[in-house]
Amino acid sequence: MDFVNCYQSATRAEAYSKLEFSNTYHLAFRDLPEIFRAHVKGTAALDFGCGAGRSTRFLGGLGFEAAGVDISPEMVAKAYEIDPTGDYRVIPGDDMSGLPRESFSLIQSAFTFDNIPGMDAKARLFGDLRALLKPDGIIVNMVSAPEIYCNEWASFSTKDFPENRNANPGDPVKIITTDFEDRSPAVDILWPHESYLEVYGRAGLEIVEMRKPLANGDEPYRWVSETRIAPWVIYALRRSN
Ligand SMILES: C[S@@+](CC[C@H](N)C(=O)[O-])C[C@H]1O[C@@H](n2cnc3c(N)ncnc32)[C@H](O)[C@@H]1O
Repeated sequence: MDFVNCYQSATRAEAYSKLEFSNTYHLAFRDLPEIFRAHVKGTAALDFGCGAGRSTRFLGGLGFEAAGVDISPEMVAKAYEIDPTGDYRVIPGDDMSGLPRESFSLIQSAFTFDNIPGMDAKARLFGDLRALLKPDGIIVNMVSAPEIYCNEWASFSTKDFPENRNANPGDPVKIITTDFEDRSPAVDILWPHESYLEVYGRAGLEIVEMRKPLANGDEPYRWVSETRIAPWVIYALRRSN
């Protein structure tokens, strides 16, 4: 399948750099500190698919020594613009050979795998990330739940894309972020839980915790579906062998 990473664009990088942690994104980041406290033993962290650095700065704010890597030069340029002293790197072709092996206590991936097509590519990347983990290290993979593409949300709209409902695992799906002005849709890849289980198995990883965060209803946001349907899935993973 021809797939274009819609984040390799200066316009999208500019729009994305305005996102913080409100609305539907609140639910993505809300539970991470608790998950890290429960499973992560050190402070060396890698943010795989750091984008404009929001998720990397989130780790830094929690006390991690975090480096961010991304395949998009436009996104990494934005990350540097916002945080000139941060450690952000472009990894062309996902070449991780410049990163130290067995050295990270935490590898976080926030929404990155939504944009990576295919079982083989996903399994290879998770295998490469596994090699960068300390033996007791944890990968936290946060992804969009399939339901995000068929409902309305505080931060997203999908009503213009009824074809999303007929998408099969691995198919492209479209979603508009309403938190910023750029209304061009992101094209993601539908990847349900069962498909992630296969990826993790192939990469020698196992789930230590999985969360599907729901809103309580007392947060300062105008929820649409978030109190009933979880928009995100968060996996904490460790080496299985
Ligand atoms: C939805 S953005 C999330 C950015 C950031 N994690 C955040 O939460 O703000 C997804 C990012 O993953 C990056 N990405 C997509 N495919 C990638 C790949 N194969 N390797 C590394 N990064 C990738 C994109 O360039 C984009 O910056």
